Amino acid sequence: MAGFSTILPTPSEAIDSIKSAANAFVTSPLPYNKLPHPQLSFWQWALVAIASMFVWRILKVRVFTPLAKIPGPFWETIFAYRMYKSLIEGNFHDYLLEQQLKYGPVFYFAKNKVCVGDPEDARYILGKKAFIKSKTYNTSILGAPNIFTTKDPKFNEMRRRQIGPAFTVSHIAEMEKTIHNVTAAALKEKIETLMDQTERQTGIRQCKFNYVNDFNYMSFDVISELAFGESFGMLRKGNYRILEQIHSTGFLAAIEATIPITLDKEFLMKKSRKDARELAEFTRGIIQKRIRENQEKGKPEKKDILQIFIDSVDKETGNRMSVQEIVSENIILLFAGTDTASSTMSWTLFLLMVYPDIYKKVVQEVRSAFPNPKSNIKYSEARSKLPYLEAVIYESMRLQAAVPTGLGRTVPKGGAEFHGHKIPGGTTVYVFIHGLHRNPQYWDQPNKFIPERFLGEGAAARKRNMFGFSTGYRICSGRNLAWTEIFLTMSRLLRDYDFELPKDTLYGPDVIDPKTGEPKIMPGRLGLAFGPRHPDRDGWIIAKPADLSAFSIPVDNTNTHGMHQSSAAYSGVDGNRTPLTAVSTTSTLV
Ligand code: HEM
Repeated sequence: MAGFSTILPTPSEAIDSIKSAANAFVTSPLPYNKLPHPQLSFWQWALVAIASMFVWRILKVRVFTPLAKIPGPFWETIFAYRMYKSLIEGNFHDYLLEQQLKYGPVFYFAKNKVCVGDPEDARYILGKKAFIKSKTYNTSILGAPNIFTTKDPKFNEMRRRQIGPAFTVSHIAEMEKTIHNVTAAALKEKIETLMDQTERQTGIRQCKFNYVNDFNYMSFDVISELAFGESFGMLRKGNYRILEQIHSTGFLAAIEATIPITLDKEFLMKKSRKDARELAEFTRGIIQKRIRENQEKGKPEKKDILQIFIDSVDKETGNRMSVQEIVSENIILLFAGTDTASSTMSWTLFLLMVYPDIYKKVVQEVRSAFPNPKSNIKYSEARSKLPYLEAVIYESMRLQAAVPTGLGRTVPKGGAEFHGHKIPGGTTVYVFIHGLHRNPQYWDQPNKFIPERFLGEGAAARKRNMFGFSTGYRICSGRNLAWTEIFLTMSRLLRDYDFELPKDTLYGPDVIDPKTGEPKIMPGRLGLAFGPRHPDRDGWIIAKPADLSAFSIPVDNTNTHGMHQSSAAYSGVDGNRTPLTAVSTTSTLV
């Protein structure tokens, strides 16, 4: 078959023909040729073409669109230079907040893109199925649609029916022992081992560990345990082999979503594409192994997320999920459910360190509510007995949201109106979580860490204005799991250890940010989620055993999982892995 190359002109032929066409135009006998004109060279014509394109872009984004009436940075809407720069630097949310404070809660910031930082508007957008997810969710790497990236509300509803049971409060409660084992228990085990080492060397029982990295490994171990059927063993065994593949695949997904021209381009980011293929292969192998085991040995006693995916039959459509579809769902859980949860915990512990009065209060609450150093702390009990800790977590999610930007939705055909601004159908509106959480109209002293705002009068209304897990139709499916993981970990750490920042830290209660007048917050970076930017530099903390003698210790020979207390359960050894009976909680979720 003759290739295109044989009929296409060579580059020099193409240049010659453009030159002669240009000259034919300027020497044409037609009326426009009566105008004075120079004989233009090819490059001059190229300049004219670029200038025309530029003028056309200005007309398109600043004149022939109703969006031009919405306030916003004029040149940015044309070039989007700062948008791309901040996306690459991982501080897009800071840039958007700066614009929001200048232009108000609805502003036009790039071609066809409007940012929304008002809670009423956000609820309206996220509460309507007609505002489908925008093309910023496109990715080529997962090989099958999934609950997160799909734009199709019907598909999303089917998936929620199919995989929703894996994330209910009662199912997560059944998984609680497993979650505890790979979170609080594993981390305590690591801390105790490190303390043993220091004590042997110095005679002092304390240790220094990197909480930012360890929370991250821990959250991968949770998802791998529940959705891959076995822990990746990052925290206990230091097995980080897969971490690079996951981050590299996530980075590729983010680039494809932000710069659509890179979608499915095999010659770009080859290493990440190879990592993505290997991650998919690894995941497929695990799923096929489980399917084989189901056939040979029967289904496992413990119905984890993976088993729920394999078994799921949609009642309405009768659809089962194919292996490729489960691969896609599992990988998306790794992206959606790991860095988000671990960053939330990292910001929370950091904020407690730079606000010592709040740290003292929360420690007092946890130790008074659970004074027995040998008891486990069950999620439902922690949630009901630790309102101040809950307020601390809410406030940390408000100040340092793990997902601060990015909820892009396409305005439906009929258009929409926000704050008196008419927005035509087809525009992408971004529900801007960081802007919502720092909007001074809704939050008094928005840059200050004040957990008390989530207690007492007005707290319920303020919780309604929290968007950390989104809201409406596409609200985070994993929020019950996230709350469980965060509460199990934070309550145990705060009760069992005293924490302080190392002497050489760059941050602390006395290091004040001149911009806010508040303690300086360690720099963050927006990647898969918004987390600390320099974990290896800033993520260290010193732990010392807590002195609980000041708190009355009731005699309790059973742990709160209803089993007899064994030291193994507290030193982080696997302990009893049989499923627990379901418990229900009535906790409010964001
Ligand atoms: C503190 C931790 C977490 C935060 C802050 C968080 C935040 C969010 C947000 C803001 C969204 C909406 C995204 C959008 O519309 O673009 C979302 C969606 C989602 N999250 Fe989470 N998430 C967390 C933990 C988890 C966990 C642990 C899982 C599961 C293991 C999970 C699974 C999902 C899924 C599947 C969606 C997509 C829902 C849909 O589009 O229908 N998340 N999450």
